Amino acid sequence: MQKNIVVLGTGGTIAGVGASGADHTAYVAGQLGLAELVSAVPQLAAERLQLEQVAQLDSKDMDHATWQTLALRCAAWLAQPQVGAIVITHGTDTLEETAWFLQSVLAPTKPVVLTCAMRPATALSPDGPQNLLDAISVAADPRTALQAPGAVLAVCAGRIHAAEHVSKVHPYRLDAFGSGEYADLGWVQDGRPRWAGAAMPPAQAHAHAERALSRPVADWPWVDVMHSHAGVDARRVTALARAGLQGLVIAGTGNGTVHRTVESALEPLQDLTVRLSTRCAQGQIVGEQATLTPAPRSLNPYKARISLMLDLMV
Ligand code: SIN
Repeated sequence: MQKNIVVLGTGGTIAGVGASGADHTAYVAGQLGLAELVSAVPQLAAERLQLEQVAQLDSKDMDHATWQTLALRCAAWLAQPQVGAIVITHGTDTLEETAWFLQSVLAPTKPVVLTCAMRPATALSPDGPQNLLDAISVAADPRTALQAPGAVLAVCAGRIHAAEHVSKVHPYRLDAFGSGEYADLGWVQDGRPRWAGAAMPPAQAHAHAERALSRPVADWPWVDVMHSHAGVDARRVTALARAGLQGLVIAGTGNGTVHRTVESALEPLQDLTVRLSTRCAQGQIVGEQATLTPAPRSLNPYKARISLMLDLMV
C-alpha cells in the first residue's frame, strides 16, 4: 500500500508574500499556510499528503524551542506505520542548521527532506512549487532510504544534499545551496530523483539525542560561535564566559588558525569547552592543531555549535 507523506510547515520565503510579482527581496517570509503552498502544485493533487503547520517564521528567527517541537512532531509522525516520509518547508537562511539538528536528534528510519525557496510565493516565477514537488518526489522514492539510510536531506533547485554537508552559499540566486567539496547526493530531473554514487553509510543519532527532545530548552547548554578575524576584540570571550557561556565554537581563519589575543583570552577559561572550525566556506582543517580540539566531522561553525550543545547535555 502506498504510504502517506507528511508535510510540515515552518515558514520561510517559500511561504513568503510580497506586494507585487516583481518583489524578490521586499517581502514578508512565513505568511502562507501549507494548504496554499500545496495547492500551487497541481501535480500534488494525486499524492497522499498529510499537512501540519508546526511554525510560521522567518528562519533567521529560528530558535531551540521550535527545533524541539519540530523534532518531536517528526518523531511522532515517523512512528506511524501509514507514514512513509516527511517533507519540511523551511526558510533558506538557517535550513542547514535545522537539517543538522534533526539529523543529530532523529537519525530517522524514513526519509526526512527539507525544502525551501529563494523567491516568495507571490513572485512572477516562484521557485517554491518546483522545490516542493522535487522534495516530495525524493521523499516518495523507494531508493531514498537505500541511498541515504537514516539521513536528513535538503532538496533545492533540483539538487539533493545531505544535512551534514549542505550550506547556503549565495544570498540571492535560486541555486543557493552547495555541499562544498562533497558531491551532491543526486538531482531531481523531470520529476524523478537520480542518485549519484554509492549509498551513504547509515547515519547515527547523537548519544544525547533523547535529552534534546525531553529537556526544557531553557536548560540547554549555552553555546556560541565566535569568528577569529583581524582586529578581533578578545574581551568578548571573557565577558561571555563570565556571563555563563558553557561552549564556544571558534570559526578560525584559514586552516583553523586563531588570533593570538583570542588564544590568550581562552587560556585561563578551563571550564569553557571550545571547538575549532574554519570560517572558510569549503574544505576542512587538515594537520595537527596545537591547542584547540577540532569540531567533529569537519562541521561548519553553526553545525559544530549544535553538536557541541548536544555534547554538553550531560
Ligand atoms: C527565511 O530564511 O525564512 C527567509 C529567507 C528564505 O527563506 O530564503
